[in-house]
Amino acid sequence: MLNLGQISSLFPFFAILNQAFMQSIAFPSPHHEAVHQNVILSVRGLEMTYYAGHQATPVLKGIDLDVKAGDIELLMGPSGSGKTTLLSIMAGILTPTAGHVRLFGQDITSLPKRQLAQFRLQNIGFIFQGFNLFPALTAAENIGVALQLKGVPSKQAKTQVMELLERVGLAERADHLPEDLSGGQKQRVAIARALAGHPKLILADEPTAALDSQSGRRVIEILGQLAKQDGCTVVMVTHDPRIVDIADRVVYVEDGQITPPSSPIKGKIHSESCRE
Ligand SMILES: Nc1ncnc2c1ncn2[C@@H]1O[C@H](COP(=O)(O)OP(=O)(O)O)[C@@H](O)[C@H]1O
Ligand SMILES: [Mg+2]
Repeated sequence: MLNLGQISSLFPFFAILNQAFMQSIAFPSPHHEAVHQNVILSVRGLEMTYYAGHQATPVLKGIDLDVKAGDIELLMGPSGSGKTTLLSIMAGILTPTAGHVRLFGQDITSLPKRQLAQFRLQNIGFIFQGFNLFPALTAAENIGVALQLKGVPSKQAKTQVMELLERVGLAERADHLPEDLSGGQKQRVAIARALAGHPKLILADEPTAALDSQSGRRVIEILGQLAKQDGCTVVMVTHDPRIVDIADRVVYVEDGQITPPSSPIKGKIHSESCRE
């Protein structure tokens, strides 16, 4: 007897139907579930277990989450609860053990590696806690590399690099190496790099954790303003209570699960949608 895969390979149309059917199971249609029209990021039944030899560490234990276009969404919770793992899976950096992530209509958990890398490059800007700047490249070059990878021609890239540096208030530091910049300045370069090429989703992992209070405040200000100016969606892991002021929603993660309440805060309404 033929299995579904064999039937699909014989009849391409059936393959499309079959794929649509499988996707409808992973992401039930609005008839089955109240899915907001503006949801750009959907996480369903996400599980992650790390394996080291015979040792299995279950870290995410069934996460369901919807993020709306233009929102600033915070992931908060104790250290070790799985926030970085969740963010890395949303970015397509890690592959989950089970479950799906749909981003801008694309199920990224089922994309082949090369396509996933392209998709990530075009759609996601990632800000790391430790900045992750190239130490041998200047501030401008760190941003330029990102634009080059995104296929922006070099002349245009030069103009965009300066615009981005100006937006984070670092135009006069363009030719400085990371070692000659303060922590706050490095993080602002990292934000400018994440914003290069106008990604529609910014993911940030504790962007103010390594900063002193004043630099942290400046970074929060910039993240909030720039995200809203660009009509970007921001998902951010943080322990910083000040960031709650610019957030639309806080989601609490505890022991690999989302714990209530994860309700909108301050009744904020954002009608902006992400830039096409
Ligand atoms: N690569 C890995 N291999 C094994 N265990 C890991 C790995 N990365 C993270 N963990 C474990 O997974 C748990 C959640 O980690 P993480 O997602 O970094 O949490 P958080 O960001 O909330 O602090 C922790 O117990 C951590 O030790
Ligand atoms: Mg973490």
